Amino acid sequence: MTTKRPEAETVSFRIENRIAWVKFNRPEKRNCMSPSINRRMLEVLDELEFHVGVGVLILTGEGTAWSAGMDLQEYFRETEAKGLVGTRKAQREAYTWWRRLRNYQKPTIAMVNGWCFGGGYGPLFACDLAFAAEEAQFGLSEINWGILPGGGATKVAVDLMSMRDAMFHAMTGEPISGKTAAAWKLVNEAVPLAQLQARVEEVANILLKKNPFALKATKDAVRRVKEMTYENAEDYLIRAQEAANSFDNEGRKEGIRQFLDEKSYKPGTGTYDTTKQKPKV
Ligand code: ACO
Repeated sequence: MTTKRPEAETVSFRIENRIAWVKFNRPEKRNCMSPSINRRMLEVLDELEFHVGVGVLILTGEGTAWSAGMDLQEYFRETEAKGLVGTRKAQREAYTWWRRLRNYQKPTIAMVNGWCFGGGYGPLFACDLAFAAEEAQFGLSEINWGILPGGGATKVAVDLMSMRDAMFHAMTGEPISGKTAAAWKLVNEAVPLAQLQARVEEVANILLKKNPFALKATKDAVRRVKEMTYENAEDYLIRAQEAANSFDNEGRKEGIRQFLDEKSYKPGTGTYDTTKQKPKV
């Protein structure tokens, strides 16, 4: 038996070069999600969401796991012992931070360094992009201990994978490698673990050069239009751009100016220099 880690230490984070590195920090429990880690994660996300020094958030795990899913002891057994109120409270604590992450102001990247099971698919899906170690293992292991993949996990599988892959994944509970997760579109890419951080940093640095208002509008648009008809999407996108303009109407003008007048970059192959724009909070 290990001593219980204080709630404040269940998540660690540091900010470096405008990247917030947020870690599930219960390596001794393979970063499974207890009520404590869920509450702490929401506090950390709150603290970082509008932090001026943060341009991208990367979610990863300490030790050998990204997250071994929900904590079967503290999230299931102990909360169920408190009855319906215990169960609902625990669900809300988890779902609230996943929802916050799905709608996060800053771009987010899941850096899946190891085990990723069940409930872990909630935050995995919530992150805009996901990169995995080839050596990582992903699984909808719920069926292995006698439940269906709840908490959104079935939805995540069906949204990201083909129906056949999602069905196989959910019904067999067999883990798949990071490489297969990439082939099944659960993550963007898989690279050897030794290269994972460098690759994720490279992608984060691409995002850091973009106009942050346009990035937020873009990531929201990608999620929203998926469930819309073409007509509704067309209408939504017009309005979303107009709404984005109310926060930053100068960025796109500067982007056009640098291409047409200054001829300093080509939008087809690069990004305009956002530092030449008047700073906006
Ligand atoms: N819930 C509770 N405790 C867990 C969990 C979990 N999901 N995952 C790991 N732990 C605990 C273990 O009980 C063990 O605790 P102990 O040291 O006090 O005995 C400790 O973490 C280390 O786990 P090991 O199993 O010894 O680690 P190992 O590296 O050998 O295996 C693995 C890792 C494969 C992730 C294994 O721990 C495992 O199968 N975990 C459960 C994965 C899972 O199915 N999660 C639930 C998904 S369904 C859902 O989320 C709704």
